[in-house]
Parts: sequence; C-alpha cells; structure tokens
Amino acid sequence: MTKINIKKELETKSDSLILGLFEDELNYYEQVNPELDKKIQLAVKRKKFSTKKYSYYTTQITNSAYESITVINLGKKTDMDMETLRVSMSIAVKEVNKQKLDSFTTNITDILREIKKLSDADIGLSIAEGIILSSYKFDKYLKTKNHSLKEVSLQWNDKDTILKKAMTQGIIISEATNLTRDLVNEPSNVVNPSYIEKICRELAKKNSKLKIKVLGKKELQAKKMNGILSVSNGGNESPRLIILEYNNNPRQNKTAIVGKGVTFDTGGINLKPEAGLIDMKMDMGGAAAIIGTMKAVCELDLKQNIIGVIPTCENMISGTSYKPGDIITMYNGSTVEIHNTDAEGRMILADAITYADKDLKASTIIDIATLTGACMVALGYEASGLISKDENLISNLFSAGERSKDRVWPLPFYDEYQNKMDGDLSDYINLSREGNGKLAGAITAGVFLSKFVKNANWAHIDIAGPAYIPTEKSYNPKYGTGAGTRLLVYYFLNN
Ligand code: BES
Ligand code: ZN
Ligand code: ZN
Repeated sequence: MTKINIKKELETKSDSLILGLFEDELNYYEQVNPELDKKIQLAVKRKKFSTKKYSYYTTQITNSAYESITVINLGKKTDMDMETLRVSMSIAVKEVNKQKLDSFTTNITDILREIKKLSDADIGLSIAEGIILSSYKFDKYLKTKNHSLKEVSLQWNDKDTILKKAMTQGIIISEATNLTRDLVNEPSNVVNPSYIEKICRELAKKNSKLKIKVLGKKELQAKKMNGILSVSNGGNESPRLIILEYNNNPRQNKTAIVGKGVTFDTGGINLKPEAGLIDMKMDMGGAAAIIGTMKAVCELDLKQNIIGVIPTCENMISGTSYKPGDIITMYNGSTVEIHNTDAEGRMILADAITYADKDLKASTIIDIATLTGACMVALGYEASGLISKDENLISNLFSAGERSKDRVWPLPFYDEYQNKMDGDLSDYINLSREGNGKLAGAITAGVFLSKFVKNANWAHIDIAGPAYIPTEKSYNPKYGTGAGTRLLVYYFLNN
C-alpha cells in the first residue's frame, strides 16, 4: 500500500518532485526557480508541454534534490475541482512508476490550499483517492510484477486536522474500491458463489458491527426463491442469498443495497456468442460493489442502517439448465415465463428485492447490477443507468455520481413502459417483446425489477458499461473499475 505523509515543506528525501501549474500562469516558477522556468518555457516552445489541462513535462535542474521533476498543468484556477486533483495524482503516480522511482513529494496540495477553490476536506478526500486508486494493480498471476510507488509526501503549510481526517476517509473508500476491482478481476474459477460467501464471512469477522446471514440452497428451497434457484440450476455451484447487516442508528430507517452476483454468465440455453464471453466473469460486479461499499461503511463508522443483499450463482448451460418457456413462480408469488435465459440477472435480483422489501422491511432499496448490454449501448463506459420513480432518490444518487465521478444518468420510466413485461401465460415475461428485448432494454429490465417492490422506495443502477472497461482511464485501470462502490459510499456520506 502506498503511504501518504503530510509535510510543512516539500520532502527533500523523495525520489521525485511533482509540481502543479495553472494554465493561465505557465510562468509561475519564474521567481522561485528561473532555471526551471526556462526549461518549462522551452518545453512549451518545443511542444513538449502545453497550455492544455493535464499536459505534463518531466525534466531536471542542476543541484536538484530529486531524481526527476514533473510539472503538471492543472488547467484554469476557476475550473479547479476534486476530479482535477484525482486525475493529476494519477498522472503523478504513473509517471513516477514509469521511472521506477519509489516516492514523490508534491506542492499541488499547498497550491490548492492557497487558492481556496476547494475545502480542505475535498482536497484530502480526492487526493487520497487519486493516489490509492491509481496505485492499484492486478498482477498476482504475473511472474514479473510492475513497479509500485511506495510513498507520497504532500506539502501542506497549515493546520492539517481536517485534511488528515478526509484523507483517511479517502484511503478507506479507495481501498474498498480496490477490493471491488479485485473481485471483478479474479476469474470465475476463483470467484464463484462459495468464494463470495467466504469474502463476506471474512468481512463480517473483521467488523463487529456487521452481521452475516447466508441462505443456502436448502433455505432458498424452503422459502421458494425460485428466481435464484432456476438460474442456478445449470451449474454445479449451489446458489446463495447473502445478507450483510450493518445497524448503527436505532432511530433511522434501513436502506438495502442489492447487488447482482452472477459469477459467470454463459447466457444459458440462449448461449451468448463468442465475442465478449471472456468478460462474463464480471457479471458479479454489482455484488462486488456491495461488498466494497459494506467494507467502507463499517470502516467509516457511518451512523446509518445499511444492509447488503447479494444473490449469487452461475448461469451455466447443461441438461439441468432452466429453459425458454419455463414458467417460474417467484418468491413474491408472481409467475414469470422465461423468454430468454440470458436475462437471468433480473430473475435473481427479483427474489433478492422481494426479500429486502418483505423480510428486511427496508424503507429504501437500491439495486446495482451489470444488467443489460442495452445500457452500455445507451451510455457507453461513461455512466451507469439510473431508474427510479422517486425524485429524491434520483437527485441524491445523481449528486453522489457527479461528486465522485462514479457517475449515473437517469433513464425515463414513463407509464407507457410499465406493461412491457406483462405476459399472456404468466404474470410477467423476462424479456420485453419489443425488438426481442433490445428496444429500451435497460428500461424494460428496470420495469421487470419494479414489479417486485411493494413498499420501499426503490432505485436501480445498471453498471454494465462502467464496471469493466477495455482501456485504462486516468485513475481507473483497464478491466474492473470498482464502479458503484464510490457512488454508493458518497451517497451514504451525504444522507
Ligand atoms: N450480464 C448480461 C449483461 C451484460 C452484457 C453485462 C455485457 C456486461 C456486458 C446480462 O445478463 C444479459 O445477458 N442481458 C441481456 C438481456 C437480454 C437477453 C434482454 C443483454 O443485455 O443482451
Ligand atoms: Zn445474461
Ligand atoms: Zn448477466
């Protein structure tokens, strides 16, 4: 883990020096260090460094205490926000790692303190996130490991109490996100339903405020949770419904967060095509986000009641798989005719949502899932889809997304959509008839889920795009990003 220190002055023992610069003040170092300034101006002239935000330039000066100096363009002073800080830290971490150096010190914190655009708390939170999220690596299966930065010293010439507290929060949130990333990146021969159970049990053991309950196959059968049972039928792993209960405020209502935990999605009898099949180990991204969120919630000691609910199984193809045309009586008593076995996420979520509503009596339910390719078509990798009928929930989740930049975008949920999942042989079908589930696919999936909420305020988040990305994007590595974890934690921090 990268260690973060706070120092009144720049740390001269660091290997590298990272300096910030605003695009409207490229000659900022003219007074303090004319030699450095000259180098910067020459680099601008030679187009090695520019007035563009996040442009950076690595150089050296005579008698320097450091092995290298990197200048990062932070953009305009007036545009400064938390994301600028996260991204500029990701540039610093990567540049220092590229040079195989172990530590850096930076004045960026101190520059920001002086311009007073961000609160000390926002600086602490986002700088820690930028450093810890960018330092993440998934190289456990590689013989040759990549270089990793060990220590960062931040310059902060003031009282550091608020900064320190926020930094601790940022570290907790980022490590929780890194756990979510690990779970998504691990292959499905490691992360299967029993592994998910093991991780949850370990989490509950470490945190005395967290209580765990696991419904195994027998209990699911006893409760007639046939949505989860049917999807799991084709595989050898037995399904589970895992409940992680965190009660830390007797005067408050309960929020249940429900995450799809399909540890591998073959599509079942409606087998998926070859392209993209390898990525389907990520279909437990919702469950991973719940596990990361619960870890952070415990460590942040939030004064709330939050219950993680994880239905987990595999969607496999075999002689015992559930089939198109099967009619399944769900946990809430409604019947569903299967029109596509690849629309399995909604089947397991439906029972889990009923459980959160009926058994747990949660007043708010937020489900999170890698639910539809249609949502990826709509929003790409840049935002998760958000569906709810509750304006407050939409607005609070939207704000949490904007602040964390683990973003969500609301999709319409018009009355006209609400009968698209009605069946003729059963109460519901699991695939909309319009365009074979492809027309408004993310929304009709949401319509299906909404039929299983009776009392709670409910929101659905489709993370199919952002959860797993093909190329790295600043502090998000390629593959598992941990999407959903920071979104939910920021949501709880503000509520
Ligand atoms: N797990 C997939 C959705 C998915 C696709 C997530 C790509 C991440 C990347 C889900 O179970 C699924 O297969 N959905 C179908 C629904 C369709 C049959 C209505 C889809 O999106 O095609
Ligand atoms: Zn599927
Ligand atoms: Zn799936």
